[in-house]
Amino acid sequence: MRVQRLHHHFAAQVTEIDLAAPIDAEIVTAIQAAIDENAVLIFRNQQAMTDDAQIAFSAHFGTLQKSITVHREDTQRRLKRPELSDISNVDAQGRRLAETDRKRLLQRPAQLWHTDSSFRDPPGRYTFLAARILPRTGGDTEFADMRAAYDVLDEATQARIADLTVHHALGRSRELAGAPPLSPEEADNLPGAIQPLVRTDSSGRKSLYLASHASHVVGWPRPEGEALLQQLTQFATQPRFIYRHQWRDGDLAMWDNRVTMHRATPFATVEERRDMRRTTVADC
Ligand code: OGA
Ligand code: MN
Repeated sequence: MRVQRLHHHFAAQVTEIDLAAPIDAEIVTAIQAAIDENAVLIFRNQQAMTDDAQIAFSAHFGTLQKSITVHREDTQRRLKRPELSDISNVDAQGRRLAETDRKRLLQRPAQLWHTDSSFRDPPGRYTFLAARILPRTGGDTEFADMRAAYDVLDEATQARIADLTVHHALGRSRELAGAPPLSPEEADNLPGAIQPLVRTDSSGRKSLYLASHASHVVGWPRPEGEALLQQLTQFATQPRFIYRHQWRDGDLAMWDNRVTMHRATPFATVEERRDMRRTTVADC
């Protein structure tokens, strides 16, 4: 397994490994060290990856969460296994969906800076996203390094935010993105979660924990909380903290949701297909 840095602060590409084949404890340890250091890993040439193999690989790094679409009766699932989130613009027959299709509208929030499952308790630790069909252009994914951003915050801000907690809710990002609101079933199953604003990783490094799901700072008046969250998000998503990933055929990305944010970028959804499969393991 070969690991090469892609960005000054974080993100690396990994070659000379086939994740669809069974992997041993030594490899798991090596990948764990690589993700701890780089926060985003791009495994190249994983064309042999299947849905079942992706689930098996993900399970080495934690307990799989179920896709939130299992809580939505009006959205038909294309993929059989509930652990897989369908990040695509195609239906079960592989036909492109209209931009106004409910499933497409529900994907809109992914274009806002976020970290996965921060509205759940436990939240997401790692996400695995496999590229199956890519558009000819566009559809890149941007990642922001929240450890690097924290490191250069001024000391007064670091002290001011040290003990703050934030409420995260899926309804918040839906609202910001102009996506359909939570269905009653979703609202029952996904009530939101309170998260620290600053996280400390196993090596003692701190990071900002932000997302478009973040709705308010606990104990603060809403406007002040929103202003702080917006200001920190703007700071943390400056170009110097961003790695923009242009997907290649066979790529499988793994990222640490505790120390990064990410967002989808547009592509020609009417002309092009994009089929990505996502798994996420819980932070527990
Ligand atoms: C996700 C996500 C971004 C993309 O799957 O969690 O945010 O570019 N995807 O598809
Ligand atoms: Mn996401």
